[in-house]
This record gives sequence, structure tokens and C-alpha cells, in this order.
Amino acid sequence: MVDKNMHRTWQEIFQGEDYRTFFSPGRINLIGEHTDYNGGHVFPCAITLGTYGLARRREDKWVRLYSMNFPEIGIIRFSLDELDFKKEHEWANYAKGMIRYIKEAGYPVDSGADILVYGNIPNGAGLSSSASLELLIGVIMDHLFDLNMDRIEMVKIGRRVENEFIHVNSGIMDQFAIGMGKKDCAILLDCGRLTYRYAPIKLDRHKIVIMNTNKRRELAGSKYNERRAECERALAALKQVADIESLGELSEEDFQRYAHVIADPTARKRARHAVSENQRTLKAFEALERGDLNAFGALMNASHRSLREDYEVTGRELDVLVEAAWDEEGVVGARMTGAGFGGCAIAIVEADRVDRFIENVGARYRKAIGYDASFYIASIGDRAGEWLLVE
Ligand code: GLA
Repeated sequence: MVDKNMHRTWQEIFQGEDYRTFFSPGRINLIGEHTDYNGGHVFPCAITLGTYGLARRREDKWVRLYSMNFPEIGIIRFSLDELDFKKEHEWANYAKGMIRYIKEAGYPVDSGADILVYGNIPNGAGLSSSASLELLIGVIMDHLFDLNMDRIEMVKIGRRVENEFIHVNSGIMDQFAIGMGKKDCAILLDCGRLTYRYAPIKLDRHKIVIMNTNKRRELAGSKYNERRAECERALAALKQVADIESLGELSEEDFQRYAHVIADPTARKRARHAVSENQRTLKAFEALERGDLNAFGALMNASHRSLREDYEVTGRELDVLVEAAWDEEGVVGARMTGAGFGGCAIAIVEADRVDRFIENVGARYRKAIGYDASFYIASIGDRAGEWLLVE
């Protein structure tokens, strides 16, 4: 059990019983991909896979961190007086960045902490292990130092760490899902205005199956930034004819009317995805609200096709998984989730057929790709916070 192991490791590494216990989830996105940095909508939820943390305040200025996922790295230490990015601080840079920007936002973190973490989100799977860690450190600081942080501000600080400290140019979706998630609900988030609504996930005897390609997203960083740049190019062209600040403000009809001003056909395709995906997300939210699971599934499938053809971020592994899922009986819909280029896909599958689904899709994947995919049943959980980790 995680908790017993964590307790034992704490005793070995930090000693004492005076720690507090925290959890921060990972996330899946049901629909609304590559729309967040285009000012559109996303529809993610927090999952019960995530990052656990034990932590206590220190009296001096030292922060000491230990990850059970990287025991070979050992304890990483830094002082509150020195909060710059350092390569040798490895994964702890996420924590450093959080502490730095929390302090910069004016919150009084005036002494250090001992922090032990353990994550069970598969590494590199695109389920947001980094945002999970960022928000874990956020809630640890918030509780240990009684900061009373505004949660949306914490979410924004997490994104700032990603963008300015780690230099990954991501949008707000992951931190928002993890910082604001609610059990058995997805969040419809308008990433332009940061307004949001919770939608209960009514799946009527269906399960959400997460399918991991087990392909690491190595190129993700550079390709991700390339897509962002292409969308920015398209937006700059559209601004000459439309009074908009983001692609998310366009309806599909408006886009068709103006698309000819985007000279570069690649940028035009990317923008078409951003616009159509935003509309699909709104329609999917409505379909779920009225309990029309089939309409929801059809929109998921259309989302994957648009990501495959217009946005070109799926890649062979994700396509094989999703297309195999589409062929299975009892599948309502399937699509890639997250940034793409490997990572995970999700499928909504009739509960009774899940075992057969995993067997069949798994076999097809192995035959086509040459190694195994992994499958998990998603449970939709709560946002990051101080949790009682009772065994
Ligand atoms: C990654 C980013 C998010 C979002 C998705 C694609 O997960 O971190 O901000 O852009 O890709 O929807």
C-alpha cells in the first residue's frame, strides 16, 4: 500500500511522525484538445491517479525533497534564498518554481519544509504528472503556512511555473483540472474568460477506459510549440478581417467566411481544428447534460479525426489504439487525450464489455506496434488538497 510505504520511507529519510498528508490528481480531457491556448473551451476532469505528498514545516530556510519515484536521485535541497532553476535539481524544479512564484505573489513563506512525494501517474503518459506535482506543492505550501490562497491564483501560478520556469508553453487546462476538479464531474472551462461549470458525468453503465500507448512524448515540446505558432499565424491573418482576440471567438460559419485570408494552408488547417473543436466541446457538454451519450461519443470520434487530419498530433500509436477501439462493440466513443504525439487515449465503453475491449484492442495494438499498450479504468476524483491518506 502506498501509505504504509510512504510512512516507512518518511521514517527513513526525514524521521518523525509530524507530517501532514496531501494528494493531487492527474487529469484526462474528455474533449476540447489544443483549444486552451486558443481561447476556446476544454472539458477535463481530475482522476484518482495522481501524486501523494507528506510534508512538514521546518524552522530554517531549507527545503528538502525526496521522490519515491526517483530514489536514485536521493534528497534534493535548496534554500528559500536561492530559488532559480537548476538542472541538477531535476524534478524538484517544479517545486522550486511553485515556491518562488507563491512568494513573488506576496504570500509569506518564510521557512522551509520537508516534502516526500510519490506519484502513480504513468510517466510521460500525458495525464499531467507535472501539473499534478505543481498543484501538490501549491496545496502543501497553502496548508503548511496558512496562506489561504485563492485556488484560481494557485492554478495560474502552476501554469506560470510551466511557462516561465520550465519553459513549456502550455495552456491553463491541466492546472485548472487538477486544482478545481470535482468527484464524478467534468469541468467545462472557457479558457478565454476563465469561467467554468461543473457537469456531472452520467455514463449509465459505461466506464471510461484510459489507453496508454506507452510511447513517450519525446517530440511533444517542439511540435507543441510549432502548433501554437501556426495558430498564432492564422489568428494574425484573421484579425485583418474579423474583430477577434482568439480563435475561440469564431463560429464555424465565421471561420468558413474568413478562412481564405490565411495564406498558409497548414496554418488554415490548424485554425480549422481549433475552431471546430471548440464548437464540438460546447455541443458535447450539452449532449452530456441531456444524457445523450451517443451524441457525446460521436463528438469524441470527430474530435480525434480532426486532431488526426487537421491538427496532425495523433501519430500512428494513438491512431491504432483509437481506431481499434472504434471497431469494438459497446464503445460509445474514443479519442486521444492531452497533447498527443503518443501518451494516452480514452474510450467510453459498456461496463460489461470492458474486459473483452481491453483484450481485443490490446491484441491489435501489439500486432501493429510491436509492444503492449496499458489500460486503466478512470475514476473521476476531487481536486488537489490536504487528504487523510488512511490505508
Ligand atoms: C497539454 C497542455 C495543455 C493543452 C493540451 C492540449 O496537455 O499542457 O495546456 O494545451 O496539451 O489540449
